[in-house]
Amino acid sequence: MDIVSQIDKDFIPKHVAVIMDGNGRWAKSQGLKRVFGHKKGVEAVRQTVEAAVELGIEALTLYAFSTENWKRPKIEVDTLMSILVNSLKKEIKTFQTNDIKLQAIGNLDKLPLIARNQLRDVMKLTEKNDRMILTLALNYGAKEELIRATKSISKKIVNNELKIEEIDEKIINSHLYTFTLPVVDFLIRTSGEMRISNFLLWQIAYAELYFTDILWPDFRKKDFYEAILNYQRRERRFGKTSEQIENSNK
Ligand code: IPE
Ligand code: IPE
Ligand code: MG
Repeated sequence: MDIVSQIDKDFIPKHVAVIMDGNGRWAKSQGLKRVFGHKKGVEAVRQTVEAAVELGIEALTLYAFSTENWKRPKIEVDTLMSILVNSLKKEIKTFQTNDIKLQAIGNLDKLPLIARNQLRDVMKLTEKNDRMILTLALNYGAKEELIRATKSISKKIVNNELKIEEIDEKIINSHLYTFTLPVVDFLIRTSGEMRISNFLLWQIAYAELYFTDILWPDFRKKDFYEAILNYQRRERRFGKTSEQIENSNK
């Protein structure tokens, strides 16, 4: 049986997040400079986006550039930004034919102007699309996001727009970059590293985690399907017992 037909269409995660890692190591393994790994990674993005749309996933969030990635050599940062701008231009057609809405999370003000403008244009063009929300995490850091949220909640308290007693999960959610998105059900990281690297800390509180050794430029649709199948074999208990889960499924 082919792999897609093994996937249960009634148990698709709503929100999948991906830490796309291993571009540099892929390039090195081919005797190439790191930036070629980033260029090669674009095809893996396309395959993942298409596979996610085809499965009916509502939200796909891709970690493309962290708040820590500015520490890399300038030439690498510049190349990543130019790959972003070119890919956004090239992929408009993919977004439109697949009815994908593009958005971005992170401290976008710090991105180069050309990247901000390109993002703004693609977001505007795709804003009415509603089959899947594709979110790019750019200059994203979960700690920065939580600091920002804390500041804006504090301001509301000082201005008497909010009471301390009113702070709950909903209020915190609504102050995060991801306020329009469902919670993350499934987090995938490629390249064999088993860490979160400051991605979506709050939002992955109950996500299922999946780590694969495949380097991002080698990641293909079938690898995404494999990951989803793995997700479907898990029992998400959310603190309850297995028996309770089984009974509620009856
Ligand atoms: C992921 O690949 C891409 C970004 C972080 C932008 P890396 O560039 O981190 O590749 P490795 O981890 O060095 O192999
Ligand atoms: C995380 O990967 C960031 C992105 C995938 C954009 P890194 O390669 O930067 O993470 P660390 O530094 O190895 O944890
Ligand atoms: Mg890396």
